[in-house]
Amino acid sequence: FNTLGFQQDLLHWYHLNKRDLPWRQDQDPYKIWVSEIMLQQTKVDTVIPYFLRFIDKFPTVYELAAADPQDVLKAWEGLGYYSRARNLQNAVREVVADYGGEVPDNTRELASLKGVGPYTKGAILSIAYNKPEPAVDGNVMRVFSRILKIEEDIAQQRTKKIFDVYVRELISEEDPASFNQAVMELGALVCTPKSPGCLLCPVQEYCQAFAEGIEETLPIKTKA
Ligand code: ADE
Repeated sequence: FNTLGFQQDLLHWYHLNKRDLPWRQDQDPYKIWVSEIMLQQTKVDTVIPYFLRFIDKFPTVYELAAADPQDVLKAWEGLGYYSRARNLQNAVREVVADYGGEVPDNTRELASLKGVGPYTKGAILSIAYNKPEPAVDGNVMRVFSRILKIEEDIAQQRTKKIFDVYVRELISEEDPASFNQAVMELGALVCTPKSPGCLLCPVQEYCQAFAEGIEETLPIKTKA
């Protein structure tokens, strides 16, 4: 596998094709964190106006930490999965109390925060702090299941760890922030669940599933 070629072709495509999303304006770890929590169970188009309003109301960890929890829930109203908002505020209060208001830049401290699981941790470390850490969600598993012909069942929790190992091998050490977002963008715009746009895919030549014509059979997912 030509890892360097893959990285270059993917990153080149990303820089030309990435959507201008509000959480891509800067690398503020707090904003990246808020966006990734919102994006975990909610689509990009829905998240955009909520994200903008939320950051307007609570521009930094300090405003969110000091806010009335009812006002935080109100800002989340309509997004669903409200424990996300409660956990986020509790975790941000910990950041203010224990870390001087700086979102941690390491696995150990991030993992100790309420609601910050492996995905969110990897997204913050890579996108905000530019560390070569995987951030594996369903989209990332779809993309790599096809490129590498990984036939593990993505409905199994332990499968994420298998993808983690592959992403660690492939991630750009030069620009991990763009690399992870490029994979997400490829999953959203090209390597879609149904009728993927293989003929337009910037990494078609690296894709095992395309070579075998089995892209629509991957990823393998048992339970609905
Ligand atoms: N889905 C999850 N994280 C994302 C991001 N940073 N950009 C676009 N889609 C995403």
